[in-house]
Amino acid sequence: MSHAASIQVELESGECREITFTSDHRSLADVLAAHALPLNTRCGQRGLCRGCEVELRDGSLRTEGGTVTAPATVQACRARPAGEALIHIPARSRIEHRPQVGETFAIAIPYAHQPLFRFVPGGRDTAFAVDVGTTTVVVLLVDLVTGEVLSRAGAFNEQIRFGDNVITRIEAARKPENLIAMQRAIVMETIQPLLQRACERAGRSLERIVGGAIAGNTTMLHLLVGEDPTPLGIAPFAPRFIKGKQVFASGINLIADSLAPETPIQLLPGIAGYIGADITAGVFASGMAFDPTPSLLVDIGTNGEIVLQSGGKLTACATAAGPAFEGCGLLCGTRAREGAVSDLWLTLNPFQLETKTIGDLPLARANGLCGSAYVDFLATARSSGLLGVTGRFDLGAWEKLPAQNRLTDDGERALRLTETNGAGALRISEVDVALLLQAKAAIGAGIEILLATAGIRAADLGRVYLAGGFGMHLNVAHAIAIGLLAGIRAEQVRVVGNTALAGALLALVDRTTLDEMENLRTQVEVIELNLAAEFEDRYIEHLMLP
Ligand code: FES
Repeated sequence: MSHAASIQVELESGECREITFTSDHRSLADVLAAHALPLNTRCGQRGLCRGCEVELRDGSLRTEGGTVTAPATVQACRARPAGEALIHIPARSRIEHRPQVGETFAIAIPYAHQPLFRFVPGGRDTAFAVDVGTTTVVVLLVDLVTGEVLSRAGAFNEQIRFGDNVITRIEAARKPENLIAMQRAIVMETIQPLLQRACERAGRSLERIVGGAIAGNTTMLHLLVGEDPTPLGIAPFAPRFIKGKQVFASGINLIADSLAPETPIQLLPGIAGYIGADITAGVFASGMAFDPTPSLLVDIGTNGEIVLQSGGKLTACATAAGPAFEGCGLLCGTRAREGAVSDLWLTLNPFQLETKTIGDLPLARANGLCGSAYVDFLATARSSGLLGVTGRFDLGAWEKLPAQNRLTDDGERALRLTETNGAGALRISEVDVALLLQAKAAIGAGIEILLATAGIRAADLGRVYLAGGFGMHLNVAHAIAIGLLAGIRAEQVRVVGNTALAGALLALVDRTTLDEMENLRTQVEVIELNLAAEFEDRYIEHLMLP
């Protein structure tokens, strides 16, 4: 039976509204949304987050557990109006920002506007979000008044000279002088100039900055604060710190012109030694933690981290995939950047090779191949018969290639893509293929182990979120064809980009998301692949090309 009811709603701004409606068993969140007061229902009204919390200041509401009377804090998606009530909606529970796809990342959940740091409009009103990757670092400058991204700047992590992956950096940190030098490399030689550049681009002085938020893997965050990461190099890979924490700019030697030394910088919470704050951020920003169906996050960066959500339970593993899909260690490999070959199509009968470069440069001027082009090569070279199941060139097919496309060096065959002779020729060798297959096998086997642990199949996944810069140019069908995403259908895949950066931005603009990330990190069960009995067999199977 329905009847007329009314509730008083008080907003953070002090504004009061009376809402009259016909009670029809809708949730309080739905009633408010119908009256232009949408709440931050980021878990889809499933009672899993704190986005929709309101304060019941007078009267009562009905919940599944019975009638709740004031004063009380209730989840508006779990409550129904029961008559007269006075409700206060805190700023953190109002949607200010809808899910968005940024230039390089997607945020799949709505979020409120309640910044992490106090700000003064027109004065100190700016903050920065950083993703400290092992290979690259990106800084966003954010207006705290509007929540908008003002500018961005990215560069290689200057620590690269100490090694191209976390293991080599951990090794380097055994020497105390290297630990100091690596902190300097990331803070003073990478973040500081990027922050300055982002400020110049936005036309804002560093004086206006009130704080920052940083995501990164556990090793990167240790090196950022000058903490010894060497325990991460040996079992049980115990981090010195893993919870989110705040440091001061001067405390990490971030000294830049008019940037206040006491500027607070929030480090996002991580999960374990090899599942860092970048992954916590990804699990949250992708919305996977709240998906009603099983979902998977695959972050292919310098390493491959995988998180599975099934029945609300989160499991994760880190694979030692290495940076091959970022182009590292390959003869002509490069990161996805202007001038890199990003797409490649190859047929054999007749032989045809088509390529596309980022920025549409002619192939002759390309500066390398990025991960997505290597995936295209593996898929089309295999389907055309040029590559066999083991990743070696099929001898019969090889002989049919035009002479100018064949290179043999010390018995090692390579497909030559450009006319240029000598070392400058763009080429893909069998050694490159072997390295790519190792990275593919580590990720493919990791996905299978997580699925097997949860007792589900790839087909049961509602969504597969592909995070990291690598995914942005990826031909998903080719990734599936080579077994990188074995058993997954293209329509399950969502490319979400740099979710680590998205998480740092969310923490800045909506401080409740930081609490939820902290809560999420404790719910993730980490599976050690090296201890999983079947990992090796699955890895060997995945070394083959389907
Ligand atoms: S929307 Fe109500 S708990 Fe998440």
